[in-house]
Amino acid sequence: MSTSTGKIISVIGSGLIGRSWAMVFLSGGYRVKLYDNQPGQAARAIEEVGKQLEELQQAHMLRGELSAVDQLALLSSHDDLPQALEGAFFVQECVFEDLEAKRSVFQAVEGYVGESVILSSSTSCLLPSDIFSRVQNRTRCIISHPVNPPYYVRLVELVPHPETLPAVMDRTHALMTQVGQAPARLRKEVDGFALNRVQYAIIAECWRLVKEGVISVQDIDLVMTEGLGMRYAFIGPMETMHLNAPEGLEDYLRRYRDGMRRVLASFGPVPEFSGEEAKAIIQEMCELIPSDQQHLSARRERRDQFLMGLAKLKK
Ligand SMILES: NC(=O)c1ccc[n+]([C@@H]2O[C@H](COP(=O)([O-])OP(=O)(O)OC[C@H]3O[C@@H](n4cnc5c(N)ncnc54)[C@H](O)[C@@H]3O)[C@@H](O)[C@H]2O)c1
Ligand SMILES: *[C@@H]1O[C@H](CO)[C@@H](O)[C@H](O)[C@H]1NC(C)=O
Repeated sequence: MSTSTGKIISVIGSGLIGRSWAMVFLSGGYRVKLYDNQPGQAARAIEEVGKQLEELQQAHMLRGELSAVDQLALLSSHDDLPQALEGAFFVQECVFEDLEAKRSVFQAVEGYVGESVILSSSTSCLLPSDIFSRVQNRTRCIISHPVNPPYYVRLVELVPHPETLPAVMDRTHALMTQVGQAPARLRKEVDGFALNRVQYAIIAECWRLVKEGVISVQDIDLVMTEGLGMRYAFIGPMETMHLNAPEGLEDYLRRYRDGMRRVLASFGPVPEFSGEEAKAIIQEMCELIPSDQQHLSARRERRDQFLMGLAKLKK
């Protein structure tokens, strides 16, 4: 706690992810200044955060050592950018996923902060080389990509600009660890980062199997939820291989290399995800879970309850 006392983090953009970051940093005892370019929006976001902190406290899921009231007291809202940046050592940008918006935000931010301040973006899909193109000192720029909802899913992908200093990566890694997130370093930028590349590989093969008539929508989801997913919350695919042969990874490769290569070579091309094939798969999905708000909200609530329980279990 002593490392965070009095230190300030600015969060730029107070939407879903901006509010989530604010809660994560507050749990680590940081002062958080929340800014939004829509007047009044950051103030409304504080009310929402206050409500959520109270709910988390009642559910015994509040993170950190401070009470909900004490955490909320560390949060302030600002409609003025220079004021929101004053005193900050770290800036987390969370504005719309729009290249132009992000470029101009970082250009403006750089004009108001000291040279040691780290400029961090929440972008899901844009590359550091694009986002930070108008920043003069790009050695202090980094992407810290959270997973929704960050309060329960702790992974943060750290993606450097080609010019990012190792010390900036290290300081961001230390900050994320200290506030209870689980940072993973990418050594260089790549489209989709790591999480979405793996996610899209899984989606593509599931889609192809359903499309080819091999398995139903319901049953391919079961393959994940009752099969692969059971271990993936605790043991990744690399360690899984290592543990699944008597003498570890080398042994695993000896035994399964040829089979893996044969199966992988039979994978189909990138799916269209549109037209007739999409129509059929959408229809099958909607027969299981209709896509009206009532059904979707109920399933989202169920998902968040499960995530909360899993987060507890992982502790
Ligand atoms: N939603 C997710 O699941 C998710 C997950 C990981 C990363 N992200 C990324 O986080 C970022 C924010 O996403 P979100 O879901 O919170 O969006 P959102 O639409 O909920 O919030 C964006 C907020 O930014 C504000 N804003 C827009 N332009 C601004 C500017 N120039 N200056 C200050 N504020 C500005 C808007 O008023 C709004 O309040 C995006 O880059 C997104 O890709 C989102
Ligand atoms: C650029 O940023 C780095 C990292 O914050 C800092 O050490 C360096 O002094 C900055 N350089 C200039 C010219 O401002």
